[in-house]
Amino acid sequence: MVTNSKVQAITAPLCLSDEQLRKCMTLFLAEMKKGLGKETNAAADVKMLPTYVRAIPSGQEEGKFLALDLGGTNFRVLLIDLKGRSVKMSSKIFNVPQEIMVGTGAALFDHIAECMYRFMYAEGILDQVLPLGFTFSFPCRQLGLASAKLIRWTKGFSASNVEGEDVAKLLKEAVKRRGDFDVDIVAVVNDTTGTLMSCGHSTPTAFIGLILGTGCNACYMERIENVELWDGDTNEPKEVIINMECGAFGDNGVLDFIRTEFDQHIDNESINKGNQKYEKMTSGMYLGELVRLVLLKLTEAGLLFGGKLPAVLKKKDVFYTKYLSEIEADADETVTRSHKILRDELGISYATKEDAELVRYVCSLVSSRAAILAAIAMVTIMNHMKRPMTTVGIDGSVYKYHPKVHTIMTETINRFIDPNLKFKLMLSEDGSGKGAALIAAVAAYQKAGKPALSDAKPAATAPTKK
Ligand code: GLC
Repeated sequence: MVTNSKVQAITAPLCLSDEQLRKCMTLFLAEMKKGLGKETNAAADVKMLPTYVRAIPSGQEEGKFLALDLGGTNFRVLLIDLKGRSVKMSSKIFNVPQEIMVGTGAALFDHIAECMYRFMYAEGILDQVLPLGFTFSFPCRQLGLASAKLIRWTKGFSASNVEGEDVAKLLKEAVKRRGDFDVDIVAVVNDTTGTLMSCGHSTPTAFIGLILGTGCNACYMERIENVELWDGDTNEPKEVIINMECGAFGDNGVLDFIRTEFDQHIDNESINKGNQKYEKMTSGMYLGELVRLVLLKLTEAGLLFGGKLPAVLKKKDVFYTKYLSEIEADADETVTRSHKILRDELGISYATKEDAELVRYVCSLVSSRAAILAAIAMVTIMNHMKRPMTTVGIDGSVYKYHPKVHTIMTETINRFIDPNLKFKLMLSEDGSGKGAALIAAVAAYQKAGKPALSDAKPAATAPTKK
């Protein structure tokens, strides 16, 4: 049934040939170079933002640090106790209600401050002013390690009066408005950077950080000579982590040759139309919805659900991305779990086993394409860096929970990597929060005038203008 030619005609655009993938790699590299170039950066979609984080912690840092992790519908506050390489963490997850995501900036930062208060109260640390690393997972132009201006919102956020502002300053103001606790914000980092730093704490070959979760983005360690916008010092290490913001790859239309009518639909219906086109093909915020759109088309063509459109499938975002992971874990010939999701969770009582099988096929096409496109970015970076061995630290729900994404990514990278290079994909659990605390630890050490650099591994440094 899955090989039915009518089904194939509808789903074929989701399958990418090696020739198309090679073209994507060439385009991705060209966009990276455009973002790194002084003359071309302003017009570039892939912004290649220097982070001012330049290497991994020395492992000598000690003490208590706070971290905040804001980047999706959940918000986390963490307390991290560092003793060299040993890391103890406690954390609490808070929800960011939809009305706050799209309300005013002041309300958003008040909500964050309120959650911090509740966490610090429970931990009994309200009277301490701890160094804080703020993981803020949106495109920001860093003005230094502790100051970052939001370029524009992504992933369903649109809180007013934040774009163009320094988010560390907005957080400080919200804490001050309350007046019942205080923090010392020493670093603002992207989740990709946090993930890379956290992975680098234990793995010296970690040079790329990838998030494949609600959003999709990567960072990597670039040689300073290639970063034409670099305005910090050029001392050792002559490298800096670049937050690529590659979710915006394709915004100028270069990916239109692989984008489908389903991708176009997702973009049209989003609150950031025309932006984050690569992210909309690869990340958890959109994969379930892509599946729903394909299912609609198959049903309209009479190929699914006996041609009878289930009312539930008319609703946007009703097909959760977590269903893809659950359904594709269903190796059973009888596709029991998929059938259960269709009948019990979505309430499609007349879904047959054949329907469940076709739904599973569609899920596999959508998630494979996401994994392949994520891998294409990874292999392009590796071929560009030319490091003999690269470990990619990865976090995010799609990578973590999907049963096949890791394998598909590994196979794809193997197909396209320069044969002299080796790599490993590594789950960096809790990476973004822990990484922010590690960066905060280094920054706090330096602020206090303590030596933060080990001989072997220089640490994150705040910039000194040339
Ligand atoms: C979006 C954000 C980016 C973040 C990614 C993963 O692409 O713009 O900053 O790293 O989501 O959370």
